[in-house]
Amino acid sequence: MVSYKELGLVNTREMFAKAIKGGYAIPAFNFNNMEQLQAIIKASAETKSPVILQVSKGARNYANQTLLRYMAQGAVEYAKELGWEHPQIVLHLDHGDSFELCKSCVDFGFSSVMIDASHLPYEENIALTKKVVDYAHQYDVTVEAELGVLAGVEDEVSSAVSHYTKPEEVVDFATRTGCDSLAISIGTSHGAYKFTPEQCTRDPKTGKLVPPPLAFDVLDAIMEQLPGFPIVLHGSSSVPQEYVDMINQYGGKLPDAVGIPEEQLRKASKSAVCKINIDSDSRLAFTAAVRKVFAEKPGEFDPRKYCGPARDLMEELYKHKIINVLGSDGKA
Ligand code: 13P
Repeated sequence: MVSYKELGLVNTREMFAKAIKGGYAIPAFNFNNMEQLQAIIKASAETKSPVILQVSKGARNYANQTLLRYMAQGAVEYAKELGWEHPQIVLHLDHGDSFELCKSCVDFGFSSVMIDASHLPYEENIALTKKVVDYAHQYDVTVEAELGVLAGVEDEVSSAVSHYTKPEEVVDFATRTGCDSLAISIGTSHGAYKFTPEQCTRDPKTGKLVPPPLAFDVLDAIMEQLPGFPIVLHGSSSVPQEYVDMINQYGGKLPDAVGIPEEQLRKASKSAVCKINIDSDSRLAFTAAVRKVFAEKPGEFDPRKYCGPARDLMEELYKHKIINVLGSDGKA
């Protein structure tokens, strides 16, 4: 048993309380490799933003859970080296799908876990979530749960359709499970293709898809039921068109990729939404930068020469999200 506290990590409790009061949201960035982690930590240290490092099922399969945990431990030390005296870094399990997995993360130094039982019938979701909460809270590890279903595909979690969270269920769910935060479904979805062309309109000038707005009325109704309770938005990449264009310009093929407009995420950040999950945008930045190097310098074969620019572009993206979208800069 290793406590996250020994590793210099923090849980989400105080972070979320401050974010709700201050009208900003904490970035939850997924990481799978060293370059992504370096970019996240540099961006957070330079902007003095609290940050949540997320490990998904896909990341665990790709990079190994043990290695990722040690990387997060190293990230705390790296943050200090960068001059961030008291780093506010959470190591979070994204989309945990069983009690055993959540327990193994709690036992191994994660400071926060998500149990995603949203695909199960309501009572089963409550029972499994409560079991994880009861275990995790013994070690002061915070727990995120989910009600409602997001559409889209993300690292082995997928659904063809979304079901908005029912506001009439949230009080019962939060009270009976004791969860610390609640991921809700209000129209965001995982991946770089969040909406079909049929769900969007098209901007006549650019020909680009304009997505339908998020269901802020559902969010408002949830906040009315659970005043001041930490709300989480998954599937919140905005799919920046400059990266999509760069990828397409340098030989890629991402037609009609579309995400959540940043103004809507900015608006959500000012409410009880205190954690915003972003993964696809950094994949797009990485891919765009690598494709550019490959197209412009076909003789290049040193991975540092294309992973380096990818890391720089991801760092720029993370800083932009922190400062201009979530408003978490200067809060750690
Ligand atoms: P995106 O695919 O929109 O980046 O969402 C990531 C996410 O929600 C991880 O849980």
